[in-house]
Amino acid sequence: MTTAESAPAPSGTGDFDLGALLAERGAERYELHSRYLNHQLPRMLHTIGFDKVYERAEGAHFWDADGNDHLDMLAGFGVMGLGRHHPVVRKALHDVLDASLADLTRFDCQPLPGLLAERLLAHSPHLDRVFFGNSGTEAVEGALKFARFATGRPRVLYCEHAFHGLTTGSLSVNGESGFRDGFAPLLPDTAVPLGDLDALERELRRQDVAALIVEPIQGKGVHESPPGYLRAAQELLHRHKALLIADEVQTGLGRTGDFYAYQHEQGVEPDLVCVAKALSGGYVPVGATLGKDWIFKKVYSSMDRVLVHSASFGANAQAMAAGLAVLSVMEKEGTVAHARRTGDLLRTRLAALTDRYELLADVRGRGLMIGIEFGRPRSLRLRSRWAMLQAARKGLFAQMVVVPLLQRHRILTQVSGDHMEVIKLIPPLVIDEEDVQRFVDAFTAVMDDAHDGGLVWEFGRTLVKQAVADR
Ligand SMILES: Cc1ncc(COP(=O)(O)O)c(C=O)c1O
Repeated sequence: MTTAESAPAPSGTGDFDLGALLAERGAERYELHSRYLNHQLPRMLHTIGFDKVYERAEGAHFWDADGNDHLDMLAGFGVMGLGRHHPVVRKALHDVLDASLADLTRFDCQPLPGLLAERLLAHSPHLDRVFFGNSGTEAVEGALKFARFATGRPRVLYCEHAFHGLTTGSLSVNGESGFRDGFAPLLPDTAVPLGDLDALERELRRQDVAALIVEPIQGKGVHESPPGYLRAAQELLHRHKALLIADEVQTGLGRTGDFYAYQHEQGVEPDLVCVAKALSGGYVPVGATLGKDWIFKKVYSSMDRVLVHSASFGANAQAMAAGLAVLSVMEKEGTVAHARRTGDLLRTRLAALTDRYELLADVRGRGLMIGIEFGRPRSLRLRSRWAMLQAARKGLFAQMVVVPLLQRHRILTQVSGDHMEVIKLIPPLVIDEEDVQRFVDAFTAVMDDAHDGGLVWEFGRTLVKQAVADR
């Protein structure tokens, strides 16, 4: 028998040297992607000139090989809530590795999942239990299964334009045909317009609805649910014995200036809440489905059913340690209030530009989730250029702004969805006033150029050719 004392000493680093591997092969990164991974990613990056080599990152900034500083307004699709390499999260991960825990034995109870669940649930006191998985889509899959099982009903309602992840269950509640087409048959779920209570009630009367799943602010296009909608929807759902699922994968953990976006509205208490992305500080994949006690008790109703919903890597020590460190930092640093203040500042400064630029139609959102929408200009001169882009493909103007923001001003942003003239800003929540002003100055310069008929339109022509060639 091997005891802890007599266990073989861990071997050294052996032949594997990560630093040497990266030094030797790092330059092949784009080629390797083209050959072995999704080849359209490097192709797209080459086309728009985003094929950069970034070497180092910290907080809301990263640096290229020449030491140029870039401002991150994308946060890795929202996972870098605290920015990159927060020292407290990083230390927690070093500590958990150094502790050599007997993790994932699967037949014991480790302390870290319980501690993280306790700390997470403190932010939604009406909820009682947590299931830990490994991603946003997995958090959604859990919620869909729990809602169906707990209510004994098959159908989940979702909102038009919704995004809840891309595995098959989550895809069944996706509101965009571009994601769904070609993957049928999906689950028998039904879309309702965001904010339309009559449509919701019509579906609920059929008595086969398990739940409505909703993003309190939709990621696609940054559309908020209308004031009062979540509360009224919750009442309708409960009257018809159906559940409200809040997908807070993107909006959660302070992103919108509240810990959860549903908390913006008084009296909203979703039965299930999906969390992921920023929970692990961007280091370790993690997902969490939070729910009411009775739902969990129904799903896990007997010892036989102990593994009825489970995940091999769920609740692993690295993810749990990172999550605990993130929540601790958020409390100590007042991250939620900081996101609200900084977001208000950024949105106000951007909104002030709508009078100045006829191509700028709207600035919306809450906290540090901001949508900038472009629209048809009034003047004849700009209208013909706008029409040329729209004829080729909707969304090209927004792309035309995103590209010089990176190329000329070293600021990373994204278009908020296919065929949309909207840029979405979801920076790390730690950006400061200097970062805000840097973005506003850069955006102003790009919009000046667009309104003067400058260089961005040259790039627009390249995009049009590409769009036509891609048809
Ligand atoms: C609201 C929402 N739900 C679910 C997901 C899926 O998360 P993941 O990519 O971790 O599967 C996303 C991802 O962007 C999201 O924005």
